[in-house]
Amino acid sequence: MTSLPHGRLNDSYGRSVNYIRLSVTDRCNLRCLYCFNKENAYYIPHPKILSYEEMTRVVRICERLGVNKVRLTGGEPLVRKNFLHFVEMLKESSPSVALRLTTNATLLADKLDALKDLGLMRLNISLDTLDRDKFQSITGRDFLPRVLTAVDRAVSKGFRVKINAVALKGVNDGELFDFINLARNFPIDVRYIEFMPMGGCSRWSFENFWSANDILASAKSMADLVPASTESAESRGPAKMYEIKGGLGRFGLITPLSHHFCRTCNRLRLTSDGKLRTCLFSDKEYRLRSLLRSPRINDDMIAKVIAKANTRKPLGFEILDKRGRSPVAQKQMSSIGG
Ligand code: GTP
Ligand code: 5AD
Ligand code: SF4
Repeated sequence: MTSLPHGRLNDSYGRSVNYIRLSVTDRCNLRCLYCFNKENAYYIPHPKILSYEEMTRVVRICERLGVNKVRLTGGEPLVRKNFLHFVEMLKESSPSVALRLTTNATLLADKLDALKDLGLMRLNISLDTLDRDKFQSITGRDFLPRVLTAVDRAVSKGFRVKINAVALKGVNDGELFDFINLARNFPIDVRYIEFMPMGGCSRWSFENFWSANDILASAKSMADLVPASTESAESRGPAKMYEIKGGLGRFGLITPLSHHFCRTCNRLRLTSDGKLRTCLFSDKEYRLRSLLRSPRINDDMIAKVIAKANTRKPLGFEILDKRGRSPVAQKQMSSIGG
């Protein structure tokens, strides 16, 4: 029997990874203005995209290295063919791993029953506005009604739903009250994410950056917010959550710029073409695809590459500080998976 390096994926800053974000595809059916840029849009050619078998193998190797949570992201994961079959494959191959999905929910409504049967009950839904015209101007598509249908059905079927809204000054800052009310009236967590200056997105500027401090100050004037307990495993994540007094859901902020959370970062990323990224803000990538496709490379060898890469996991905020006003990563967000 071969032996894998069992246990934690530790790094030189005392952090340990237990969570992988897996970008299933770089394709997306939306054109969000903060993510997609026609001028430098690039799609990974199909032969370079990992097969579901290859992705399943990476997850199995990571599971043996201590990973117990996998978030499936995109682009938009539900645009990839046979996505539900992939979820089934992962569930069978890595039963101890908790599967999560981040989606724009445009193709979600009719897949909820199948996801429920597969036990994938936690959904993070990207939704930046509740206004139909604004939705069209942000995403380039008139899909708000189907997103709201999916959110509504997901909640009534008992899914745990979090909504991610990218905070965009001058675009959705007038909707804070509506989003807070959504979290007040439904068992939904609404989280505002600070707009990150990712590469491929030329639209980031100080003028459209709406900081978490400003959001929180406004939110506190609209609702009675109480910091949520930090006991749960979830509190290792990037969001700072608040209970809304008298509300069913919660309100939260993800603050990659103003209050970075790099010192407790517990995640790695795998792009759909098999590149391991140890930090969202670092362009350093470790190419796993050729290893996965080589008959001479076994799981142990790949595990060692992943563990070694992780020891060099940087502190993202140092990269951010050095970059000043330039984008932190060259790649567009849709190919990294957020
Ligand atoms: P849970 O905590 O499991 O619910 O999910 P999550 O917040 O990690 O995942 P989600 O896909 O909903 O991501 C929400 C936002 O947080 C996205 O904009 C991500 O890009 C951002 N985010 C997630 N992880 C990191 C990270 O490690 N660094 C930075 N800078 N941003 C992150
Ligand atoms: N800044 C902040 N969040 C972003 N997302 C995509 N691009 C950016 C950006 N530049 C968000 C999406 C989705 C999550 C995975 O990443 O809205 O919720
Ligand atoms: Fe698609 Fe998500 Fe990028 Fe919007 S943010 S274009 S939904 S990948």
